[in-house]
Amino acid sequence: MEKILTLGIETSCDETAAAVLRDGREILSNVISTQIPLHQKFGGVVPELASRKHIVNIMPVVDEAIRTAGVELSQINQIAVTYGPGLVGALLVGVAAAKTLAFALKVPLVAVNHLEGHIFVNFLSAPELEPPFLSLVVSGGHTALIKMNTYNEFELLGQTRDDAAGEAFDKIARVMNLPYPGGPEIDRLAKTGNPDAIDFPHPKVADFDFSFSGLKSSVLNYLNSTSMRGETVNNADVAASFQRAVVDSLIDKTIDAAENFGLSKIVLAGGVAANSALESSLRAACDKRGLKFFYPTKILCTDNAAMIACRGYYQSLAEDFAPLTLNAVPNLNFKGAAQ
Ligand code: KG4
Ligand code: ZN
Repeated sequence: MEKILTLGIETSCDETAAAVLRDGREILSNVISTQIPLHQKFGGVVPELASRKHIVNIMPVVDEAIRTAGVELSQINQIAVTYGPGLVGALLVGVAAAKTLAFALKVPLVAVNHLEGHIFVNFLSAPELEPPFLSLVVSGGHTALIKMNTYNEFELLGQTRDDAAGEAFDKIARVMNLPYPGGPEIDRLAKTGNPDAIDFPHPKVADFDFSFSGLKSSVLNYLNSTSMRGETVNNADVAASFQRAVVDSLIDKTIDAAENFGLSKIVLAGGVAANSALESSLRAACDKRGLKFFYPTKILCTDNAAMIACRGYYQSLAEDFAPLTLNAVPNLNFKGAAQ
């Protein structure tokens, strides 16, 4: 049977990425050009700079993805692109490039939701994975529990009512003068700290929703009041105790949801999935209850285009194609409608 080659394009935030997949699950290339060093001196992503850098990078990154896949552009069967959620100026660069390529190559265009892409990356890491399953999606912009019934049918069970988990990591790290992005820095620092040193409040929210702003404020208050008293802050203990509170809250809700909906597979997704404490604690919680745990390889946790190509491939099987009038939708939610 003929193999389908999908070119994926991702420019929603601070990575310019392109990837080629064969038949949706086999990665032929996965090129990521990160802008982290560019934004680091500002302590966070500067949207205007991100858009400009995407414009410079997009075609060289696509070229490299095609070249390293060992294929010709003319062999590409379809183009999948992130159209939201994300920074509007950044998204537009990828969407414009994808539309132009689809028009020039006369191939279908697939519009992919970035968050769905994060979940689908697990199909690349675990070839045996099939729906139904429960996915915990934790990124810089979102924290959500998604019940995936089939490849093309999702249910949002709960989400954060305020800050995303990654956002809380990044904000706390910034106050502690750690470089951007703060998540990996806190993760590293926490390894030498005591998670029981400071009793930060564990967020309590009804249903399967999350909340991290109260926890974030209490960490900021702790840092302020300790330095006002002239005492030295043990950054490693703060990082470990804060991380413990976030991880506990994520795991409690995930296990509750799995039990409530009778799901036996748990799939971790999103940039914060790279957190070592979250991975090991969720794995242990799943093992204890006989739940099967799936976790993407590190490079696939954070933003990449292989996840977009994978999601796009499954949409194409359902003939879910986009018109060439496709626009970016910065506040796209899980059901495809703007919030
Ligand atoms: O999914 P992602 O690459 O971009 C979005 O779609 O938002 O996630 C980026 C987020 C950032 O907040 C970053 O600090 C966080 O993922 N992150 C981590 C770790 N690695 C990345 N958070 C905690 N621990 C990590 N090891
Ligand atoms: Zn992401």
